[in-house]
Amino acid sequence: MAGEAGNLFGRPTPRVDGVAKVTGAARYASDEPLANPAFAYLVTSAIARGRVGAFRLDRANAVPGVLDVLTCGNVGGLAKPPPGGDGGPTTTTLESDRIWHAGQIIAVIVAETYEAAREAANNVEIEYVEEPPSATFDSRGADVQPHKARGPDPQKGNAAAAFADAPVTVEGRYQTPTQHHNPIELFTTTCVWDGPKLTIYEPSQFMWGLKVLVAKQLGLDPANVRTISRYVGGGFGSKGEATSRTAWIAIAAKRLGRPVKLVATRSQGFTIASYRAETRHHVRLGATKDGRLTSLSHEGWEVTSRPSGYNVAGVDTTARMYACANIFTAVNLVHADRNTPGFMRAPAETPYMFALESAMDELAHALAMDPIELRRVNDTQIDPLTGLAFSSRSMMQCFDQAAARFGWGARGAQPGSMQDGEWLVGYGCAAACYPTNYAPAVARLSVTPDGKATIGLAAHEIGTGAYTTIAITLAHSLGLRLEDVTVYLGDSDLPPVTVAGGSNNAASTTHVTVKACEEVRRRIAQAAVVASDSPFYGSDPATLKLVERRLTGPGAGSESMEKAIGRVGGRIEVYAENVPEGLPPNALAKLYDGEVTFSRGGGRKDVTAYAFGAHCVEVRVHNRTRELRAPRIVSAFASGTIINPLTAHSQYMGGVIWGLSSALHEATEIDAASARYINDNLADYMIPVNADVPSVEIIMVPEQDDKVNPLGIKGIGEIGIVGVNAAVANAVFHATGKRLRELPIRLEELLA
Ligand code: MOS
Repeated sequence: MAGEAGNLFGRPTPRVDGVAKVTGAARYASDEPLANPAFAYLVTSAIARGRVGAFRLDRANAVPGVLDVLTCGNVGGLAKPPPGGDGGPTTTTLESDRIWHAGQIIAVIVAETYEAAREAANNVEIEYVEEPPSATFDSRGADVQPHKARGPDPQKGNAAAAFADAPVTVEGRYQTPTQHHNPIELFTTTCVWDGPKLTIYEPSQFMWGLKVLVAKQLGLDPANVRTISRYVGGGFGSKGEATSRTAWIAIAAKRLGRPVKLVATRSQGFTIASYRAETRHHVRLGATKDGRLTSLSHEGWEVTSRPSGYNVAGVDTTARMYACANIFTAVNLVHADRNTPGFMRAPAETPYMFALESAMDELAHALAMDPIELRRVNDTQIDPLTGLAFSSRSMMQCFDQAAARFGWGARGAQPGSMQDGEWLVGYGCAAACYPTNYAPAVARLSVTPDGKATIGLAAHEIGTGAYTTIAITLAHSLGLRLEDVTVYLGDSDLPPVTVAGGSNNAASTTHVTVKACEEVRRRIAQAAVVASDSPFYGSDPATLKLVERRLTGPGAGSESMEKAIGRVGGRIEVYAENVPEGLPPNALAKLYDGEVTFSRGGGRKDVTAYAFGAHCVEVRVHNRTRELRAPRIVSAFASGTIINPLTAHSQYMGGVIWGLSSALHEATEIDAASARYINDNLADYMIPVNADVPSVEIIMVPEQDDKVNPLGIKGIGEIGIVGVNAAVANAVFHATGKRLRELPIRLEELLA
């Protein structure tokens, strides 16, 4: 589709915004200069369940510089709560005195300075009407919503009967903890009114959705709401959904007649946005003596808030991993007094693949079989749930290349069989996978007579390199150089693009870019073939191409870009709308209305579209202290077309490191009695430092996929993290003989 033009696809290209980022010229939402802003500080609930009996605000109002205090009492009726993905609220809001979770926003102070607002917030006196909260699984009062009430999960054949008949079986219960994204850029919102027009500076992974949702909450015409965030300092899903804070800052700015800026604290970020909820799993596998799966059963439990049914239901993926005739899956929800969870990098696959890929390792051990060979025996090119072919699936190529590079062949067959001095050494592996999502998108492209192109779309630079992939695609498709093109993102005055989530961003933005470029090429070619002074006079316009700043045709020579554009009559403006094949006709209308519609990897009618990968991990456990290290990881991925191997490498590597973190470091600790988060700061929330990650090698396995989408792009944002946690746990088993089914795995788990 983009083919011949500039040959920039697949060439390692430094970020086009790199200099702006390292020099501080890149403006994040709260960096936007404003005249005379006032500052907001959030007052959040100290209790997890109950209601606000009364506010006493005298001491807060007496703090010099305080301008306004907003509570459910004085502004509660002015905004509807933002809806969450499942229809329930993502976070609860000021509209009533009901408290759903600890850290819920219950009042907002506005003052001349940040410090005054903070001081006043600390002087708000609140009488709570307290009810005993339920923190998590097994807490008294937690409300289990069984899968039958939730709706159907994937099934096939009779998994229970096949399990009973299987010559070899394994069964395990697994658990993953609460985690918080902690993007370095905090959750900020700045609102500025100009008559009926509202501008919101807020980091978001869905500029257009935020604009429409806030308009709906406040009863405004969406045309009067503009959202701006040209760069996002990390999102990982936490900035994918609208939260309650935005409407309240908008109301504060309106009441005051002045811009109001909120920068929430790190610890408030744990409760005013989303997180990865804790999960539990029960996996049962049955197999023949040569390792062929005959029964796969995966039941999950996920914690969510009281009012929301948010869940990630990763069985949709685990049920598709291996050839198997009998599959049972179920996902149950557990409602507790918690903020509503949400997307966090590979939301579904990170916890659910931990369970499945750990169980596969247990099966390999029960069969006395190499775990990579077990995957090979059960590999399939056919989606076991639907019978559709995978658009492409290079999982075993990934295992083979990772294993070769890693030196998997040196692995001792028995757990505890490898030792290096005082260190027990273990090798573990696991598969990675992620569905290919692809969404409608719109872009505005203009090409000027000097042969420069500018594209604008309300897409997102969340650190992934989106400015660069779009610039590459644009230059490539118009036969221009990178320096000839300019990309504008992160502003809802630009045409709509869906949420930067589900790893759809690259596919969605590049396809619409190519579509816009194709229209430019068509107009240029059309003008050239009807101009009698043109070398292409009378040619078929479809045969003309833009290459290296020239218009060329077969056997007809070429002419400069400037001349070719001049013939069209000056500036060329294109408004392109791209809708993935197979989506319903209203997909574009939904996008303009702020709704997300994807062509989903597992929901297509033609093929099943997933990217695959494989990890090999070495761990070392000290034989006396049980100190646990992961000195080496080799991971291989096949995700179709790679637009920019340089940024792709970083994406994969960042994902793998996060996977290591999810195995050995990360967990948000919850106090069972108060249902509050304990380690809600970067000092206590454990993440790996450089010394924890000595070596991560990334192999990009070439893969051409002409079925997944025209450009063959599968997306790479999330697959890197998937399965690393299982590979680490499997390596720990191989080192020590101890099977740990609950994350994170820390030294104390290895002592007994
Ligand atoms: Mo991603 S968790 O879909 O931002």
